[in-house]
Amino acid sequence: MSLFRRKPIVAAEAEVEGSEPHMRRALGTSDLLMLSIGAVIGAGIFSSLGTAAAGEILADGTVVRYGAGPALIVSFVLLAAVCGLAALCYAELASMIPQAGSAYAYSYATLGEIVAWIVGWALVLEYAIGNIAVAIAWGGYFDSLISGFGVDLPGWMTHGYWVVKASADPKVLALMDTAPRLFGIPVLVNIPAFAIVAAITWLLMLGVKESARANNIMVIVKLAVLTLFVVVGAMHINPANYHPFAPNGFRGIHQGAAIVFFAYIGFDAISTAAEETKDPQRTMPRGILGGLAVCTLIYVVVGFVATGLVPYEQLRASDPLARALEVAGLSTVSWIVSAGAVVSMAAVLLVFQYGQPRIFYAMARDGLLPPWAAKIHPKTQVPWVTTLITGVVVALGSLVANDAATYDLTNIGTLAAFAVVCVGVLALRIQEPNRPRPFRVPFVWAVTLGGAASCLFVMKGLPISAWIGFAVWMTLGLILYFTYGVRHSVLRRNADSRNTP
Ligand code: ALA
Repeated sequence: MSLFRRKPIVAAEAEVEGSEPHMRRALGTSDLLMLSIGAVIGAGIFSSLGTAAAGEILADGTVVRYGAGPALIVSFVLLAAVCGLAALCYAELASMIPQAGSAYAYSYATLGEIVAWIVGWALVLEYAIGNIAVAIAWGGYFDSLISGFGVDLPGWMTHGYWVVKASADPKVLALMDTAPRLFGIPVLVNIPAFAIVAAITWLLMLGVKESARANNIMVIVKLAVLTLFVVVGAMHINPANYHPFAPNGFRGIHQGAAIVFFAYIGFDAISTAAEETKDPQRTMPRGILGGLAVCTLIYVVVGFVATGLVPYEQLRASDPLARALEVAGLSTVSWIVSAGAVVSMAAVLLVFQYGQPRIFYAMARDGLLPPWAAKIHPKTQVPWVTTLITGVVVALGSLVANDAATYDLTNIGTLAAFAVVCVGVLALRIQEPNRPRPFRVPFVWAVTLGGAASCLFVMKGLPISAWIGFAVWMTLGLILYFTYGVRHSVLRRNADSRNTP
């Protein structure tokens, strides 16, 4: 059936070889560790931790989700296991199909075109919508930072419309009435979030890339501020804040995990380095699982200190770590942590804003998106059309969107892609058991099916609004596929021309 036509892996390899001959196998375990920490630690721990711990309640008392409370650390450990299974599956496919486009490319080679399209479309949620979330978190910490200098922007310039609408905080809600109005609509916009996305898009249009050196510096900054938070925070823990430990039982741990999953996104990105890894059979799992272990340890310790520093309800903010320090009377440290968060999250924005146009590029090269999406600028070598479109969409989204809703959408899209990749590994083992695999998932049935099932289970912890958003997005994607991609697919056209005498 042509909808499930698979892209031959040889073709995928040839594409890579055509563009970048002989990538050197130079990366060792420590390089992979640095790469994963660089891509992974960001808004998830700096920001979504707040909603995960405190939950979300609307002004009318509706509970959108229950918080984990101090048991957030249990959510982190459970997520590490889920991500570990998915990460192993990524490592196997990445070592066989080293190609731009990540999960999209893997699905094309394993489960066929329509599944690849669905995964590519879901990855837009991971990258573009994910970046809206990171930009809003960036804005929150930027506001904390400048208020340390005595600069306070008016609330209507730092709170997007949907953030205000979903808030239960009377001070924030009041902005609905006090904000200036345009055609009767309150102007509620997040200018700092918009500005950082605009600035990063501009840098990317100029051809800026993240380098290994810049990544190492960012990793040091992240680890330094989180260490500062932990060391100073630990001295001000009030043990009473740990009671009750799990105020909403397993439901809170599950729903908290579903939003804080955002903190783990990015492991999939490191698997794309498989082709440049020395001895991938040993190095890849060590790098991936080692990176997961390090990040999990950091998250557990940060979560433990944050929920011990203040009662967990007080973490409900887009800058919860700074807020917790502030509430505990540690203003100077709060300011330093905000500065570090601003730098670290700008780096995460760069990585994802760089990734999205390249996924569009891979899809356009396969004919599933129009050819203009694959246009490369002759001077800068940047896929500039998609870089610009991504920049405009993410910047406008950051201006008005609600951060919690964007975490949810990002997570549901990413988890869906993870689940498909897990199934893809098993499918390829069955279809092509003898194909060389530089890295093989151990206990393949348990890891792949367990990985897919646990991703679905985490998805189940997301609020209904995320599922509706996901369904709308996917329906839109399928309409696009059946009106465009299915007819323009390069794979299909090649097959058709072979069949025509
Ligand atoms: N894991 C990344 C972050 O937390 C996406 O910002």
